[in-house]
Parts: sequence; structure tokens; C-alpha cells
Amino acid sequence: MIRLGILGSGSGSNMQAILDAITAGTLEAEIVLVLSDIPNAYILERATRAGLRTGLIDCRGLTSKFPEEAQQETAEALHQSGVELICLAGFMRLLRAPLLDTFGGRILNIHPSLLPSYPGLNAWAQALEAGARESGCTVHYVDAGMDTGQIVAQAAVPVLSDDTAESLHSRIQIEEHRIYPEAIAKVAAEMRRD
Ligand code: GAR
Repeated sequence: MIRLGILGSGSGSNMQAILDAITAGTLEAEIVLVLSDIPNAYILERATRAGLRTGLIDCRGLTSKFPEEAQQETAEALHQSGVELICLAGFMRLLRAPLLDTFGGRILNIHPSLLPSYPGLNAWAQALEAGARESGCTVHYVDAGMDTGQIVAQAAVPVLSDDTAESLHSRIQIEEHRIYPEAIAKVAAEMRRD
């Protein structure tokens, strides 16, 4: 049973999908810690309601940077909880040395586009603005770049002519909730074999 640590800044619907897969028995895993950099993020409320351990990442008042001390504290908290695989689920800060060094090759992210297209923020809105006919989502390993790590799984969705940013993001999220638990199960099986 792989021990997961989840980092998120938003509503936590991907964390919920992971939890639902665990409850349904399709993902053999345990979420041992949920951390957020946003004190009132809904992901923390969902996690608390589900009886999961939660914690706040203190980013020293910085709005988008992930200061080194905070990364060190995060790495320690995850390590102390026995986390084997970190799953970023809507976490909006770039990971750097302290975390990447401690958990190198054991961090996954879900991104709302078909990478390498549209890395970065609001990828669904980028796809819409670019006039793309298709978008989707990607589960990938995290490296020091912005959404550049090795791809584990992808799913495509059509972009419809009457789509808004919200309707396209909703369609992408349906696929995110399906492929993220599947990708975690695949990576966990690979880690067990190693
Ligand atoms: C998801 O769509 C995820 O792909 C995206 O944030 C959303 C979080 O939703 N992540 C990124 O854009 C990372 N660059 P959730 O909080 O409901 O899981």
C-alpha cells in the first residue's frame, strides 16, 4: 500500500478523485498527509472532513514563490509522515531543490492540457485563446522545469465552438479525475517492482 502526500492550492477535486478510487478499491494507496499553501483552500476542508491529516505550508507571505525554507519544512513534514509518492493536485508553486532532492523521481503532477502544449497557468484558457480544436490533461513526473517532466498518462477532450474557459475546464477535469488515480496506480506498481 503506497503512502501518498498530496499538495494542493485549490478546491481539491483531484484529491477527492484519488480518495474515491482508494475507497472504491481501484487504487491501493493511503493518503497520509495533505498540505496546502492557502489557509482557506477547500482542499483542506475536504481532507479534514475525510479524516485526513492536514498541514499548512508557510510561504512567508510570498504570493507565488515557494521559498527554500518552506520547501525544506514541506520535505521534512512529508518525510516524517512516511510519504513515498507526492501528488501535486492543483498546487500552484514551482518545486525546487530541497523538495526535488528529497523526493526526486517520486513526485507527480496533473496539468490541464496535452503537454507539451500550454504549460503554466490557466492552460485551458490558453487552449481556448489559441483556437485549439482539442485539449486535455496530462499526468507527469515533476522536474525542475515548468510542466516539463516525463509524461505518465494523457487524455484528450474536444474544444467545442461554444466553450467558455469554465466549460472547457469542467470537461478536462472529468478526464483528470479518471486518469490521475489510474496513473498513480501505474507508478505505484512500477515503484513496487523496483
Ligand atoms: C486542475 O485542473 C489541475 O489540472 C490544475 O489545477 C486544477 C486543480 O483543481 N493544475 C494546474 O494548473 C497546475 N499547473 P482541483 O483543486 O479541483 O483538483
